[in-house]
Amino acid sequence: MEIRLEGITKKYQRNNRKISVLDDLSLTIPNGKFALFSGDSGVGKSTLLNIISGVSRPTSGKVYYGKEEITAYNEKQLSDFRRENLGIVTQNCELIPYLTLYENLELSYELNKGPVDEDKKKDMIKQLNELGLYNLENEYPKNLSSGEIKRAAIARSIISKPEVVIMDEPTANLDRKNVTRVLEVLRRCNESGSTVIISSHEGQAIDFADVNINLSDDE
Ligand SMILES: Nc1ncnc2c1ncn2[C@@H]1O[C@H](COP(=O)(O)OP(=O)(O)O)[C@@H](O)[C@H]1O
Ligand SMILES: [Mg+2]
Repeated sequence: MEIRLEGITKKYQRNNRKISVLDDLSLTIPNGKFALFSGDSGVGKSTLLNIISGVSRPTSGKVYYGKEEITAYNEKQLSDFRRENLGIVTQNCELIPYLTLYENLELSYELNKGPVDEDKKKDMIKQLNELGLYNLENEYPKNLSSGEIKRAAIARSIISKPEVVIMDEPTANLDRKNVTRVLEVLRRCNESGSTVIISSHEGQAIDFADVNINLSDDE
């Protein structure tokens, strides 16, 4: 699915004043690409990713996935659309606290695709291992570091092989080895057909992306 933004504007209210974060932004991300949004802190990367994923709404403008305008959807349509098509990791991603890492992945998969068999369970453990989460599948989120939680959230968001993966700063606050692990996992995800859209400060991410959009350049 090609993703198209048309005239996206986002204004927030702050101290009784309107601040404009995105101003009439239009762009297209072709199907199957790996797109990277970069730019200084506060430039609007999270705002934009949340609008693309339908987590928040623009003040004006339209977001299309193929011919479907998701900005015209109601909340129910939006949440169905997200569940069926998108894998999302927000900047302050959270896992379900009373489920283990494995159960977090399992629940997400079951809501999308149905029951988990032995092969799929092995896949999930493998996915956790590829992200450096060895022997942590039975651990609860409260016993994990923020970097481990982030990587588990990444694993959860791609386990159902969504058409589009949208991740806000998936490599933030990770050590070099894990930055590479995450980017490699995203590359494989992209090669197996998912459109990948991330924001990152990470220089290394540029080598993985084929669409680079620096939001600071528009100012
Ligand atoms: N809910 C909100 N209300 C008011 N201002 C906000 C809100 N969310 C973000 N902002 C402001 O919008 C700007 C862009 O934020 P953000 O999209 O998080 O930037 P980035 O992810 O590039 O760091 C910042 O100045 C931020 O303070
Ligand atoms: Mg951000």
